[in-house]
Parts: sequence; C-alpha cells; structure tokens
Amino acid sequence: MCEMRLARKRWTICTISILLIFYKTTERARSDEHQEAQLTSEGELSTSRLMVNSSEKVLGKNLPTYLQSTQEGWKVNATLVTMIRKDILRFLDAERDVSVVKSSFKPGDTIHYILDRHRTLNVSHTLHSLLPEVSPLKNKRFRTCAVVGNSGILLKSGCGKEIDSHDFVIRCNLAPLVEFAEDVGLKSDFTTMNPSVIQRVYGGLRNETVREHFVERLGMLNDSVLWIPAFMVKGGEKHVEGVNELILKRKLPVHMAYPSLRLIHAVRGYWLTNKVNIKRPSTGLLMYTMATRFCDEIHLYGFWPFPKDAAGNPVKYHYYDTLKYRYFSRAGPHRMPLEFKTLKMLHSKGALKLMTSTCRQA
Ligand SMILES: *[C@@H]1O[C@H](CO)[C@@H](O)[C@H](O)[C@H]1NC(C)=O
Ligand SMILES: *[C@@H]1O[C@H](CO)[C@@H](O)[C@H](O)[C@H]1NC(C)=O
Ligand SMILES: *[C@@H]1O[C@H](CO)[C@@H](O)[C@H](O)[C@H]1NC(C)=O
Ligand SMILES: *[C@@H]1O[C@H](CO)[C@@H](O)[C@H](O)[C@H]1NC(C)=O
Ligand SMILES: *[C@@H]1O[C@H](CO)[C@@H](O)[C@H](O)[C@H]1NC(C)=O
Repeated sequence: MCEMRLARKRWTICTISILLIFYKTTERARSDEHQEAQLTSEGELSTSRLMVNSSEKVLGKNLPTYLQSTQEGWKVNATLVTMIRKDILRFLDAERDVSVVKSSFKPGDTIHYILDRHRTLNVSHTLHSLLPEVSPLKNKRFRTCAVVGNSGILLKSGCGKEIDSHDFVIRCNLAPLVEFAEDVGLKSDFTTMNPSVIQRVYGGLRNETVREHFVERLGMLNDSVLWIPAFMVKGGEKHVEGVNELILKRKLPVHMAYPSLRLIHAVRGYWLTNKVNIKRPSTGLLMYTMATRFCDEIHLYGFWPFPKDAAGNPVKYHYYDTLKYRYFSRAGPHRMPLEFKTLKMLHSKGALKLMTSTCRQA
C-alpha cells in the first residue's frame, strides 16, 4: 500500500516535471533529432487529444494562468499572420501539399508509406480516378476560417452559429454534426477522415445499413473536400479502397484529397525550426498550419486536451463518443499539451484565436 503510494507520488512528480519541461521548452528546444527522427508508426493522426492521464492531478482545479481563457479583447495581428504565412511557405505550400494530384501517379505505381517506409501501397484504378486534377485549394483565399477540433469542450458551448459564420470551416475526422449542431455547427468546407474511422464508426462498410449511414454522413459534406491521410501507415488501405469504391459507385458529391507525401514532415520541420519539438503533429495542428496559407484570420474551436475545464468540470475527450483519455506515454505519437501551449501563445500574440469558452449568442 505504502509502496504503491510512493510509486504514485513519484509518478506524479515525474509527470509534473515532464509537463514543466514541455511548458518551458519553447525557448529552449532540445535537439534530440536522433530520437525524433524515428517516427513511430503506431496509431494515426488524432484530433485534439491528450495522453496525460495523470494530468487530472497536475491540472485539476487550478489551471495555470497561461491555460486560462482570455478571449476578451482578442485582436488579429495581420502583420504577424503574414509573417507566419511566409515562414510556413518555406516548408510547405498548402495549396500544393494538401493533396497529391492525378498527374503525379498512374495506376499500379507504388507508394512507400510515409511513416513506414518499408511497406508499400499500389495505386489502384479506383484511387487514381479520384485523385484531384488540381489542388482543391488552388487560388483559395478566405477572410476568416474555423478549424474545429473534437474536444468535449464544445459541448454546451453554443458555438454552432459562430462556427458556421466563418467563410471556410475545417472539421476533423468526420465527426457527427446534426445531433450537436447547436454547439458545433453544420457548415463543412473541408473535412478530414482517418481510415480507421471506417472500421470504428462505420463497421468497415460491410453491410447496407452502415454503408447508408456513411453515405448520409458524406451527404453533409455538401460537395466539399474530404481529406483522407491514406499514405501514412499501412493498415487502412482496405477501408480507403472501400470508401473510394462507394464514392464512385454512388457518384457521391465530394471532392477527394489525399495529403502529399511530404506534408507531415514539412509541418514537423516548420514547428521544429520554431523550437516546438513535435514528434507527430495532430490533425488539428496540421490543419492550422495549412490554413495559414489561405486564411487571414483563423479561429480554433474544440481544442482542449485536458480532462477538466478551467472551472474543474469534466471534459469529454471527444464531444461525440465515450473514448477515454489516453495514458500518458512518451512513446505516444502526439504531444497535445505542447501543441496546446504553442497555440495558446499564438493566440495571445494575435496570430490565431483559440476559443475555449462558450460563444456569445448573437
Ligand atoms: C488513469 O486512468 C485510469 C482509467 O481511466 C484510472 O483507473 C487510473 O487510476 C488513472 N491513473 C492516474 C494516475 O490518475
Ligand atoms: C504584431 O506582430 C508584430 C510581429 O510580431 C509585432 O512587431 C507588432 O508589434 C505586433 N503588433 C501589435 C499591434 O501587437
Ligand atoms: C503491387 O503490385 C505489384 C505488381 O503489380 C504486385 O507484385 C504486388 O503484390 C502488389 N502489392 C500489393 C500490396 O498489392
Ligand atoms: C451491419 O453492421 C453493423 C456494424 O458491424 C452491425 O452493428 C449491424 O447489426 C449490421 N446490420 C445488419 C443488417 O447486418
Ligand atoms: C451547400 O452548398 C451550397 C453551395 O455551396 C450552399 O449554398 C448551401 O448553403 C450548402 N448547404 C448546406 C446545408 O451547407
């Protein structure tokens, strides 16, 4: 009993130290390039997530002030937005890297998985026929954009109207909308989907019922972009193929996009150069990074990787399911608290707006 307590205590102290290191490293990034170069191939891109199980203890009732919401008086700094856009353009061009295009491949070509270079994927006729001819973001420019993460912080936020009022709305992992419209809105211009969603939510598209359910959800996209990271790791290719076949067969009105083979490394490179040592950027961070290319003002919603809100109330991991927070793991792919802290800092400088409170009703 006593030993267990001691172990727990140590664990807590250890966790606090690690968190402190995370939070204090922006100025002093350590260059463990070697370790970081070994990207793990486990898992996929996730949205707004945190692996810190013990963070309940650390962040429990009293959030550090830098995590508390300061939405009042936020103003965009257009100079800084332009600087960031230019900086990111040195690493990636979202207009190009948002998707591979048809002319780059022919059916039968082999692609090496980005995070698993030893394994390969054959470009099928189905996949090839769905590749866009040109970037779905070609010549796009928007005044305001929303990037919507999937944290439970959105529940009871009443942010639906505000989210839908943006010129371009980016959503993650084909999250459900209709039942949550008041809090998350309905407008979708760009929606990401990890292949694993097909297994987890749509029963592998194995029967008519689940296929209809999926077709209905895609209908909500209303002819906008569905972005599938299909070349990250082996495992989801069967599902990607199933989705593609269904889209072709039913002539579903969606514009497909499959991120370029260099996108994730380029995004990581940008943040690393800015002393944010992220092993594997989350979908949310990827979307923000890409959005800087074509949005003058970026508002983030549903980004909250903590099990409690600022008032100490529990916050669901996803607003729509019962997935639990992951255990803290240094081997895990994402670094949500670090990402969050970075976004918070950018918020305070007017580079983006990180919305973590309820929205004022018009
Ligand atoms: C972590 O979470 C699990 C299940 O959610 C719980 O049983 C366990 O006590 C938690 N551990 C700590 C250190 O909070
Ligand atoms: C906007 O950002 C730039 C670059 O960081 C900075 O020099 C400038 O002072 C900021 N302007 C305001 C009004 O904060
Ligand atoms: C890819 O195509 C090659 C040649 O057509 C074939 O030998 C190989 O088995 C295929 N690989 C997969 C994963 O389907
Ligand atoms: C279809 O598949 C889903 C998920 O695998 C399952 O829950 C459901 O019962 C199946 N429906 C029929 C009609 O077979
Ligand atoms: C679907 O798209 C059209 C054209 O972009 C737009 O006018 C309409 O409002 C959209 N409908 C929904 C439900 O988002």
